Amino acid sequence: MSIDPEILELRQRREEARLGGGTRRIDQQHAKGKLTARERIDLLLDEGSFQELGMFVTQRASGFGSNGQTFFGDGVVTGYGTINGRLVYVFSQDFTVFGGSLGEAHAEKIVRLMDHAMKNGAPLIGLNDSGGARIQEGVVSLGGYADIFLRNTLASGVIPQISAIMGPCAGGAVYSPALTDFIVMVKDTSYMFVTGPDVVKTVTHEDVTAEQLGGAMVHNEKSGVAHFMADNEEQAIPMIRKLLSFLPQNNMEEPPLVRPTDDPLRADEALDEIVPDSSVKPYDMKDVIHRVVDDGDFLEVHEHYAQNIIVGFARLNGRVVGIVAQQPMVLAGVLDINSSGKGARFVRFCDCFNIPIVTFEDVPGFLPGVGQEHGGIIKHGAKLLFAYCEATVPKITVITRKAYGGAYDVMSSKHIRGDLNYAWPTAEIAVMGPDGAVNIIYREEIANAADVEAARQKLVQEYRDHFANPYVAAGRGYVDDVIEPHQTRAKLIAGLEMLQNKRDTNPPKKHGNIPL
Ligand code: HXC
Repeated sequence: MSIDPEILELRQRREEARLGGGTRRIDQQHAKGKLTARERIDLLLDEGSFQELGMFVTQRASGFGSNGQTFFGDGVVTGYGTINGRLVYVFSQDFTVFGGSLGEAHAEKIVRLMDHAMKNGAPLIGLNDSGGARIQEGVVSLGGYADIFLRNTLASGVIPQISAIMGPCAGGAVYSPALTDFIVMVKDTSYMFVTGPDVVKTVTHEDVTAEQLGGAMVHNEKSGVAHFMADNEEQAIPMIRKLLSFLPQNNMEEPPLVRPTDDPLRADEALDEIVPDSSVKPYDMKDVIHRVVDDGDFLEVHEHYAQNIIVGFARLNGRVVGIVAQQPMVLAGVLDINSSGKGARFVRFCDCFNIPIVTFEDVPGFLPGVGQEHGGIIKHGAKLLFAYCEATVPKITVITRKAYGGAYDVMSSKHIRGDLNYAWPTAEIAVMGPDGAVNIIYREEIANAADVEAARQKLVQEYRDHFANPYVAAGRGYVDDVIEPHQTRAKLIAGLEMLQNKRDTNPPKKHGNIPL
C-alpha cells in the first residue's frame, strides 16, 4: 500500500526534527560523553510516555550571524510524560542547535510548557545544556529569559521545579536553574557560570578552567548552588526520578504515600550505644538517620556542602519526611553561615510542599569568630530561625545530645511551634557548654583559687550535673518526653500519624521578610 505524500512529508519533517543540529553535531555531543536532548528525555520518562509539543517551531530571527539557518524545534525539545506513572513537564535543551542558546521561539516553547505545568499542577524538569541568551537575537532573547525567570518565581512553592545541568551553562542558563528548587550537576561535563573563563580572564586577569570556575564539584561543595552530583548523565537522570518519588505534584497535595516495607515498631538497640560517653567525642548522625528511617533509605540533599548539617528525604512507615540533622563529625555540628542557609532553604522547601520535618539535634551553638561575624552569621543564622518559625508542617525534634544556646531555640524548639519534642537521656540542654559557662560565671573564683585547674574542673562538673541532662527541660514541658534511643523510630511514626491532619496557619500577609 502506497503512503500518502502528505504523511510522507510529515514523517520526513519529524525525522529532520529528531536530528536537531544534524548528525555531525550529535557525534560531537556523544564524543564529549554527553547524551542528546532526546536521549535524555528517553532516560528520564516512563517508556513511551513522552508527548512532544512544538516540534516544528523554528526561529524567526535573521540578520547578524544568523545565516538564515533554521532548525525544527529551535534548540529545545519540550513536552510532557510520566515518571513512575505521575505527570511531569520537561524541556531539554539541544546543544547541537546554536549551542542550546535561547532565542525567542526557544523561550516561547519553554514558557508555554511552564504555563501548562502551573495550570495542571505538575512538576517541571529542565534539562539544561545551553550557552545562554542567543547572541544573534539580542534583546529578544534577554526578554525570553526574563519571561522564564518570572514564571520560575511564580511557580516557586506551587510546583516542584528541578534543573539538571548537562553541559556548559552560562548567563540566563544558570539564573533560571538558580530560581528552581533543586539542581543536579554532572561531573566533568557540566559547568555553571554567569560569565565563562574567557570573560573572567579579560575582566579580572584570573586564569581559570571551566572546571575550576564552575564545575560540578565547585557548585556542590563550595558555592552550594547545586544540590546533587552524578558521575555521568546515566546516573544523574535516575536521581531526578528518585527525588520526585518523595515530592507531591504541587502544593495542594500531600507527598505520595508508599506501602511500608519496614516494621514501624522496629527497635534498633545499637542506637542506645551510639552517643559516646564523652560529650566532646563525635559520632555519625547519618548512622542514626539510616537506623531510624524506612529500610535505611535516605536521599541526602546538598551532600557535599556545609556538611556540619545534614538535610534530605526519607520515609517513616511509608510517609515522606524531610530530615534536618546536625553532623557531630564535622565542626562538631556547629551552626555557621553556610549550614544555616542550607538548613533554612530545605526547611522552607518542605513547608512549601507539605512535607513534615524531623529534626535530629546535636548542636554546640553558633560558630564564634571574626570571619563568621563579619560574614553575617547573625543574618544567616536568622534565616534558619525564620524558616523553622514560619513552617506550619508537622515538626518533630529529637535532641540526641547538645542543644546549646540560640541553637536550642532555632532547631524546632517547642517555643517556635515544634509539635513534638523528644530528648534522648544523653541530651544536654543549656545556654552554653560547661567550659564557656564556668569561665564566665565564676571568672573571679577560678582566678583566685589555689589550684585554678582543679577549681575549674569542679565547677564544670557541677554545671554538667545541673544542666547536662534533659530533665530540666522535661520538667518545664519544653521536651514532651525523654525516650530511649531505640524507641525513636516508633515514637516518630506515632507522632507523624497523630499529626497527619495538623492545621496551622500564619497571619495573613503578602509574604514575610526573611533576612536574605
Ligand atoms: C548563539 C551560541 C551561543 C550563544 C554558543 N553558541 N553560545 N550561539 N548564542 N550564546 C554556539 C557557538 O557559536 C557554536 O556554534 C555552538 O553554539 C557551540 O559552541 P562552542 O563555543 O563551539 O562550544 P564550547 O566550546 O563547548 O563552549 C560552550 C560555551 C561557549 C562555554 C557555552 O559557547 C560560550 O561561552 N558561549 C557564550 C556564553 C555566553 O556568554 N552567553 C550569553 C550570556 S548572557 P557552531 O555553529 O560553531 O556550532 C545571558 C543573559 C541572560 O544569557 C540574562 C541573565 C540574568
